[in-house]
This record gives sequence, C-alpha cells and structure tokens, in this order.
Amino acid sequence: MDTEPAVTAGAPAPAGQEPLPEPLGAAFLARPAEALAALRESCPVARVRTPAGRTAWLVTRAEDVRAGLLDPRLSLSGGRVPDPGVRRRALDLTLVNYDPPDHTRIRRLATPALTPARMAAHRERIEGAAAELLDAADSARGDGPVELMDAFARPLAFRSLCEVFDVPEEERAALYGPVACLADKTGCTAATVEESVARIDAFVRGKMALRGTAPGDDVVSRVLAAWREQGGASEDEVASLLAMLLLAGFDSTVQAIGMSVVALLDHQDVQRSLRDEPRRIPRAVDELLRWDTPGPFSTKRVALEDIRFGETVVPAGSGVLLSVVAANHDPRCHADPETLDPDRNTASRHLSFGLGPHYCPGSALARLELTVALTSILGRWHRLIPVVPVDELAWGGGYLHRRLAALPVQPCGPT
Ligand code: HEM
Repeated sequence: MDTEPAVTAGAPAPAGQEPLPEPLGAAFLARPAEALAALRESCPVARVRTPAGRTAWLVTRAEDVRAGLLDPRLSLSGGRVPDPGVRRRALDLTLVNYDPPDHTRIRRLATPALTPARMAAHRERIEGAAAELLDAADSARGDGPVELMDAFARPLAFRSLCEVFDVPEEERAALYGPVACLADKTGCTAATVEESVARIDAFVRGKMALRGTAPGDDVVSRVLAAWREQGGASEDEVASLLAMLLLAGFDSTVQAIGMSVVALLDHQDVQRSLRDEPRRIPRAVDELLRWDTPGPFSTKRVALEDIRFGETVVPAGSGVLLSVVAANHDPRCHADPETLDPDRNTASRHLSFGLGPHYCPGSALARLELTVALTSILGRWHRLIPVVPVDELAWGGGYLHRRLAALPVQPCGPT
C-alpha cells in the first residue's frame, strides 16, 4: 500500500506559472498534520509534486476526503480488470487494487472473520502476550530504557496475528521473517522479497488445506466457511485474500502502537489521566488514531472521470491522494483539533481506517491490540518519559506509510 501513484495529473504547469507545491518532504514525515494545515485552508484540492517528482491531486478537507473515499469514480484498479485465467500467487491480488464488483465478491469473504465480537475472543491471549513481552523487557533493561518498537510493538502485533490465525508456537519463528520483510522491504534484497512471497504463499495454502478438512475458530477457517457458503472466488483469490489479511495490518498496527506512545510521551497529562482511569483507554484509542496515523493518505486513487470537489475539478486520469491525516485535523470536523483530548466525542469520526467499500477490515483487531498495548504499558510503568526528545525521533518509510524505526523510552517509578 505504499507505492507512489504512477499516474500524473494533467499537463505540466504552463511557462510563467508558479511551480507546484511540494508539501510531502522530510518535515511532513515528522508532523504530517502540521505540514498540510496551510494547504487545507488555502487550497484544499491542490495539484502537488511528490518527492519522486510525480504530480498528484491532494485533497485535504474532511468533507472532501469523505466524499472521495465514497466515490466509485475514484478507482483503485485504474480501470484494469483482473484476468481470471492467470494463476496468481498470494499477494498478486490485493483488495486495494480492486474495484467493485470484483472487490465486493472477494471482500465479503473476509468481513465475517474479523468482527469485533470474534476479535474480542482473542483478548485474553493478546493480554497474556503483552504481559510476557513487558516482563521480558523489564528483566532485560534493569533500570535502563526500553526500545519499545522491537521489545513490544513488533512482537505484540505479530503474536496477535498468530493468535487470530491460530499459528502454532513451533511455526511462528519461521513465519516472522517473511511477514516482517514484506511489511517493510527496506534492507531486503529482491531475492529475499521473492522468497518471502513464496513462503507466505506456501503458508497460506498449507493452512487452507489443513482448515479445509479440520476447521477451527480462526480467520482461515472462517474465510473458508464463507467461501463454501457464497462461492464467487477462485482458490488463488482466497489465498491472496488470506495473505493480505495476514500482512496488510502488521506494520500499520506496529506503527500505530508506536505513534500512540509518542503522543502520550508528548502529553504527560493525558498519559497520567489514562493511567489513573484505564477504562477511558478504548475511547482514547480513537483519539490517538485521529491524532496520528501511519497512513497519512488513503491508497492512491485514479479519477475515472472529471471529478468536482467544491470549486475544483480534478481531471479524468489524475492520481488522487485523499489526505486522511489532514481530514483528521480539520477544525470543520473536530473542534480544537490540535488538542489531544482522550474524551473527544467526535474521535471515532477519524478516517484512519478509511471509509466506504475499502474500510479497513482489520479495524477491530487493530483497536483491540492498541487498547491492550496501552492498558498494559500504562498499568506496568508508573511513568514513561522519552529518551530522545519527541521532535528528534527519526521517521522513515515514505509519505504513504510513515515508519518509526526505534522508540527508546525510559520507564520510571514502581515496576
Ligand atoms: C492501526 C492499524 C491499521 C490502520 C491504521 C489501517 C488502515 C487502513 C486503511 C486506511 C485502509 C483503507 C485504505 C484505502 O481505502 O485506501 C485499510 C485497508 C485494509 N486493511 Fe487496515 N489498518 C490497520 C490494521 C489492519 C489489520 C490489523 C488488518 C488485518 C488483520 C488490516 C487489513 C486491511 C486490509 C485487508 C485492507 C484492504 C481492504 C479493502 O481494500 O477492502 N488492517 N487499512
């Protein structure tokens, strides 16, 4: 989900015209909402240049972003129709490259597998995993700091996926490498990426064979049950769907845990109040997702026709970036948006999980993991302070998927 739009928006600016704005550089990675605030007020539908030198239309007001996410003329497939005759490996077909009706017939197989009620059944085991990870972090650190991404966020997100996919302990170590490589290809060779895809493909098809004859209460079994009931998809499409469910949410959840902790490091008053009243954490999770998100934009869309947003017409064929992060900080939608308010009553209107047909099917799992992660951390450590000033944290990834490589924190007080 983090490749740049390949489509350019219309013709280059005629000679004598202002160069296009370039709002997506290094400052954007650190503080994306701040970087887009001026554009949202002065030019809410702007033709911009991306860091790779391409042009795209950037949509920044909440009302327009919501409309864009719901508009079938903004296509994810770019008008391409999948050829059912071609054999596909896991990940060759991903939901975010499809439009209805192909998207609908595949996506409906996933929906019943990941409902909030189903995910809640895994809560206790995810809590157990979080407690074990914090125990290990405490015994490794003595009185020193903890690097939270490696010690907690990555392993918790991975173990949560293993719980919902019912991956036995003895298979987990071999699965981690391919999942981590495909979630963040930085530092992976082309051969490692290729091998990781092959291993995920084999893993998913192995589970399909196993759960086809011995169903359990896991994501694979539920997707297969929906497939048996509804049909309408090929075996390759189901394999790809399962691979995407395994992979799509891993890094996003890792990063959302990290970003939530960054927000709490930067807002010690909020950190204290949530520690004192942990029942407020589930609601605060939505405010933290509004505050910052790994995916500042929806996946790239392509305008199939001319599309009007307010005064501006985006021409057919243009690449469109719907800015979730700018919408989440739009004062027209959230009063006083630059205040982190864990009790905000509009928080759940954030767009960090998207909206409409591509709305994140893993949102219940992600919310559960974030709730467990924050409850466990705040319950364990009396106070958490940054080791590196929050403004100096190193941000990587790209403007479509921001990444925090490391988050060193210093726990204080009773352990
Ligand atoms: C905090 C964590 C997460 C965030 C912020 C997030 C965000 C998103 C967003 C914004 C979209 C919509 C993209 C668009 O419309 O362009 C999406 C789609 C998707 N997400 Fe998530 N996600 C998270 C966790 C998860 C998890 C845990 C899973 C799987 C268990 C998952 C699986 C997917 C899939 C399969 C899609 C594609 C849906 C479709 O195209 O119909 N995500 N996610």
